[in-house]
Amino acid sequence: MSDRVLIFDTTLRDGEQSPGIALDSDDKVAIANQLAELGVDIIEAGFPISSDGDFAAVQRIAREVRGPIITGLARCGITEDIERAWEAVQDADRPRIHVFLATSAIHMEHKLRMTEEQVLDAVLDGVSLARSLCEDIEFSPEDGSRSDIDFMIRVCLTAVEAGATTINIPDTVGYGTPTDYGARIKRVVAEVKGDRADIVISTHCHNDLGLAVANALAAVENGARQVEVAVNGIGERAGNTALEEIVMALNTRADHYQVETGIDTTHLYPASRLVARLTGYPVQYNKAVVGRNAFAHESGIHQHGVLRERTTYEIMDPSAVGQDASKLVLGKHSGRAAFGDALKALDINLEDEDFESAFARFKELADRKGEIGEEGLLAIVHDQVDLSDAVHFLGWHATGRDNEAEATVTVERDGVKESFSASGDGMVHSIFAALRKAFELEARLLDYRVEPVSLGADAMAEVSVLVQLRERTFTGTGSSTDIVEASARSFTSALNKAARASAF
Ligand code: KIV
Ligand code: ZN
Repeated sequence: MSDRVLIFDTTLRDGEQSPGIALDSDDKVAIANQLAELGVDIIEAGFPISSDGDFAAVQRIAREVRGPIITGLARCGITEDIERAWEAVQDADRPRIHVFLATSAIHMEHKLRMTEEQVLDAVLDGVSLARSLCEDIEFSPEDGSRSDIDFMIRVCLTAVEAGATTINIPDTVGYGTPTDYGARIKRVVAEVKGDRADIVISTHCHNDLGLAVANALAAVENGARQVEVAVNGIGERAGNTALEEIVMALNTRADHYQVETGIDTTHLYPASRLVARLTGYPVQYNKAVVGRNAFAHESGIHQHGVLRERTTYEIMDPSAVGQDASKLVLGKHSGRAAFGDALKALDINLEDEDFESAFARFKELADRKGEIGEEGLLAIVHDQVDLSDAVHFLGWHATGRDNEAEATVTVERDGVKESFSASGDGMVHSIFAALRKAFELEARLLDYRVEPVSLGADAMAEVSVLVQLRERTFTGTGSSTDIVEASARSFTSALNKAARASAF
């Protein structure tokens, strides 16, 4: 084969722009390390000007994560944005600045209030400034798919003249279809890249019509050699091109696309699980590649076929995407070494203190339940105490049912143990009321979901909540063998995020 398609991951920037996702910098570094392990070529770590927290996370990733190019986003016409992005990424081995400015008539008239000439000037100035700071510059004409194509190409040529070497054409609102978006990319490849080997044309597709992956594939067929993606397809509104879907489409149908990526596909499933847990965005059961049912066969005819020959009904091998049926089961007699080996097999590295606290929780749960499988171990690791949390959940007690329940929660704040009690309609409601008192936050519960962590011996439950504090929303997840406790843990995790955000 064949040409290489670069995988540009924007889980931590566009993905994090999904409502309710509030990753802290430890979460972001954990995801970035997993992305590096997966073999992505570029990590878009955030939008440094958007907040001090985002800036700090991008800077940590640039300093700590090795392998991929690390980039930060900046608005093209704004000097402060570009300088802030550079400050955040400059310590990476291979930094990039990604600048964007809208080129569609709708955006120029209503959002930017700029004329075509003003946009051209801003792109020349912005890309030149970025290029004076950093060798690797990407430019995106925002809302590219709805822009007048001749004007958009003039803008892209201006960006190249000013020093950009990656030109990314966003389908910002998911309006494109494979045929028209593909044709647009074909013109950009012919007229902006031409015969320059150093210019890469990129694709960034949103999923408003469910066409993000199809549009990105059409772009590849027409010469795009970078695809912008997010794990599990998260992102603004209906999300972005799903990393796992595009990679497996290019991989499984290499006969057709004749390209390759640098992704180690066996890490796709662990990456999907990590992002789902840390963002609190669940993966739908029938999601391609990483959904729980992606390799499950229900009909007797299908089961019979697969037992005889897997390829009768499977076009991908589950083990190729890290979805092989788990054989990992630990019990209450498993020691530190077995626990450590199991974590290693799941791509998880924990330092001393984190390891000890995860091991203690594993022992507590294994004593109650007997056996803990792979999903249970992942849940334990995710639920670990985060030292930056203001309030740590220690325990609970609740009695009663329906509208007569009473609950007490015990928490630790600043090294001091305290208990708070409240009553409510049922145990979960009263636990949440007690936790609101502990945090002194009047957060509103918007969504509450319970899922079994696994269907096997370790029947733990994972609870996900979405809470609102003033105009912002926060997700939290928690797991336990007891639904009330899992609920308390998830609410504590969301309220800690809300408390952190309201401290700024
Ligand atoms: O969707 C979009 O247009 C973007 C750009 C900033 C690349 O996310
Ligand atoms: Zn986007």
